[in-house]
Amino acid sequence: MHPKELPRVSNHGWLGSFGKTAAERLAMQREIAEASTPLVRGRILHLPLVLPARPEACHEVLVTKARSFEKSPGLRVLLHELAGQGLFTSEGELWRRQRKLMAPIFTPAALAGLPEMMHQTAARAADDMEPGQTIDLAHETTRIAMTVVGHALFGIDAFDEADALGDALTTALGWVNGALADPGIGLHIKVMDLAHDLAQRTRGWLRAKLERTRDVFESPFLIRGSRSRALRGAVALMNARIEQLIAERRREGLERPDLLTRLLAAHDADEGSMSDTQVRDEVVTLFVAGHETTATSLAWSFYLLSRHPEVLQRVLAEVDALGDGPIDHYEPERLALTTRVFREALRLYPPVTLLPRRTLEEVEIGGTILPRRSLVFVSTWAQHRRADVWEDPDRFDPERFLPEREAARPKGSYLPFGAGPRVCIGMHFALMEGPIVLATLLRRFRFEIDPSREIVEDEFATLRPKGGVPAVVRARR
Ligand code: HEM
Repeated sequence: MHPKELPRVSNHGWLGSFGKTAAERLAMQREIAEASTPLVRGRILHLPLVLPARPEACHEVLVTKARSFEKSPGLRVLLHELAGQGLFTSEGELWRRQRKLMAPIFTPAALAGLPEMMHQTAARAADDMEPGQTIDLAHETTRIAMTVVGHALFGIDAFDEADALGDALTTALGWVNGALADPGIGLHIKVMDLAHDLAQRTRGWLRAKLERTRDVFESPFLIRGSRSRALRGAVALMNARIEQLIAERRREGLERPDLLTRLLAAHDADEGSMSDTQVRDEVVTLFVAGHETTATSLAWSFYLLSRHPEVLQRVLAEVDALGDGPIDHYEPERLALTTRVFREALRLYPPVTLLPRRTLEEVEIGGTILPRRSLVFVSTWAQHRRADVWEDPDRFDPERFLPEREAARPKGSYLPFGAGPRVCIGMHFALMEGPIVLATLLRRFRFEIDPSREIVEDEFATLRPKGGVPAVVRARR
């Protein structure tokens, strides 16, 4: 079948099916969830989009035929100011080398020493909470997750600076979200592709010049607001903090067995192959990717528990059974229900709803031949709401993650961390941190969230709760 023959999802104004608001973007993803064909099609501005609808087609794109895809160049351009060529955005040999360098930090064995710090960080946030006080759980979980990633990967205590860094990040990601449908991206991609194709056909200085032109267009200078004072200020604040972090670590010596040491040691050992900019890009990427998503899914977990008191009661019984001492290691069996709650929150509100890809060559997906350079967006949200995979998909039901029920589901149907070679490197980290933070806070407090207030998804780079998750703190004991 040719892509033009695929069923189409609805348009929302001039932006196409992609829409502008969170509600419009989720409406598109709902249509994908309801499609019975392997693929459907849509558009973003004038660009055609292929949208895998059945789990098998998502699995082909992300796993079995992953070699035929790259991350969409638009994503690289939009994230360029913030994350440069860090692990999330890089491609090819650079990505392979960097992933190999970082992977040992993220194995379950290497992470086994982190639970106590995760617990202590959450306990420290709890120490600041007063019964009767109204807090924003989205803000608290951001402070916690940022501090956890700061300690684990970079040996810093970001607790007191979490607000300033969080604001800078919100500004930068807010810009990315606003620029998603900017016509300037199309032009950037056209020039990059043209320069790339011409470079392939030339040699010597001309080839080098064309490759440089291609690289210049990775920076989003044609996109509205990309030179705004707010965006530049946010990026400058992050850069200054990272420079300070690197200088401190160099003074202290490269002894701690963490990610920063690994990056700096690789930089020093192999002068030239990892530049200062590359170290900076990896640090920002890991710092951002390592807390924003976890914080968002924790905030949704609290919200869902407040709406399902019968599940909350069972979670409280589980966390009370841990006793009063520190949680210094992670035993999945002892936090089994809490972990299922976290995973169900990730199903209903996957922080990363779309995984944008582009074909590197002609490839067949779900019986349709996609030409080279087709844009293919995998919707995690749509997979999580398919009624033929998840019974009553909009209902909160952590028991879906009982092992026997999980085993019965098709590959490609649960994708909060993506899948295949580009799967989230921090997946085990997050699946440990989520339940530990929930358990630590719920052992001490109940969080009352106004029952008349429905919290909806925000239009943001990740699926944040709109207006945060305001809650009144109540002592449990
Ligand atoms: C609940 C928490 C998290 C969620 C939902 C999440 C989600 C994701 C997803 C969906 C991807 C793949 C994107 C794609 O294929 O286009 C990804 C990649 C990535 N994540 Fe996470 N993530 C989480 C936590 C973390 C943590 C804790 C870290 C680090 C400490 C992290 C670091 C990264 C990095 C570096 C990548 C890029 C990996 C690569 O391309 O090789 N993430 N994440």
